[in-house]
Amino acid sequence: MESKTQPDLGVAMIGHGFMGAVHSGAWESATHSFDLPLNPARRVLVGRGGPATAAAAKRLGWPEVADNWQAVLERRDIHVVDICTPSDSHAEIAVAALHAGKHVLCEKPLANTTEEASIMAEAAERASRSGVRSMVGFNYRRVPAIAQARAWIAAGRLGTIYHVRAAYLQDWAADPELPLVWRLRRARAGSGALGDLGSHVVDLAQFLLDDRVVGVTAIERTFVRERPLPDNGGWGEVDVDDCVAFSGGFANGALGTFEATRFAVGRRNALRIEISGSTGAIAFDLEALNELWYYDAREAAASAGFRRVLVTESTHPYSVEWLPPGHITGWDRTFTNEVADFVKAIGAGEAPAPSFADGLHVQQVLTAVSESASSDARWTPVDIQDRERAEVR
Ligand SMILES: NC(=O)c1ccc[n+]([C@@H]2O[C@H](COP(=O)([O-])OP(=O)(O)OC[C@H]3O[C@@H](n4cnc5c(N)ncnc54)[C@H](O)[C@@H]3O)[C@@H](O)[C@H]2O)c1
Repeated sequence: MESKTQPDLGVAMIGHGFMGAVHSGAWESATHSFDLPLNPARRVLVGRGGPATAAAAKRLGWPEVADNWQAVLERRDIHVVDICTPSDSHAEIAVAALHAGKHVLCEKPLANTTEEASIMAEAAERASRSGVRSMVGFNYRRVPAIAQARAWIAAGRLGTIYHVRAAYLQDWAADPELPLVWRLRRARAGSGALGDLGSHVVDLAQFLLDDRVVGVTAIERTFVRERPLPDNGGWGEVDVDDCVAFSGGFANGALGTFEATRFAVGRRNALRIEISGSTGAIAFDLEALNELWYYDAREAAASAGFRRVLVTESTHPYSVEWLPPGHITGWDRTFTNEVADFVKAIGAGEAPAPSFADGLHVQQVLTAVSESASSDARWTPVDIQDRERAEVR
């Protein structure tokens, strides 16, 4: 499997919080699990100075630290910049890194606004002409059951797609005493549950259907308007959505209903997606991520029913040679698969997916959702061209 004789791919990772820890493991485990064309070498962990970065580097296994991300862009032994910072810094870091000729893996959502995402997508497109690769970290595409579902849908197993029902349910913000962390501030996070969780389900639905959301109607709510400030006492305003519900139309005619919330008490990390077509349906729940439920509408009604497929066979996507069937995988494994796909694409000189252009389209959907929610759920076309067309009509 792993071959240390392959040319190496020096990695600098920016940020060492939650995603920094998860990505650190993924860079390591990808080489143990997959036959990669290049050998990723974790080289520099970038933080914001102080002892925290050195402590994180020790804990997470990075040999060197830096206190600002600009420093790593000049290094010739760094080929990949992995962005694990909050989304207000994605655009600046990614555009500079691409400009410096570094491949970029950027956490989701791609950016905080459509404008930032457009600039990033343009920079990525320009860089790709010189072989510089970029990818957004929508890791749920790399759940084996999801990849399998996409393959079945592409093969026509569900027939004409009528419905997508997608919900991403968490409950960590339901406690009103929870401090005003960056995820609850518009200036840092762009939006609330919408950008954080909604971006995942929009990407997933578009990925599964290989289709685009073209218009939406949305409602948002902020249930807890003031929260304690994390550092200095006092209170601050929550200026993002706590939850959002929206309906969306797909270009091919399917209807999507979406929900993203941090207030679904008892639901810790439930990403559920169900797709109904003319000849079948699939259902998936992240809290049981090895399972894909499949319904074949062509079977005799008397014995038909959703059946559970355990997506761990060697013939299923992302199977690992040395893992026998039924030896189930976990949430963090999606990041291993993500890193492996990224490295394979770089090695093959191909464009990895999801691209920054895909990330931009998700951002355009999020922007349309916000606009609709702030105008009494008015139907809002997604991309600018569509909107202009609608105004002309
Ligand atoms: N794919 C997923 O399932 C998933 C899950 C959680 C978070 N995320 C995304 O990952 C990103 C980071 O989220 P997180 O949960 O790890 O946040 P976090 O708060 O746990 O960590 C953020 C890290 O970024 C560092 N940082 C911030 N600005 C920096 C700068 N300018 N230079 C260097 N370091 C900087 C912070 O010091 C911290 O180490 C966000 O975009 C978030 O949406 C994705």
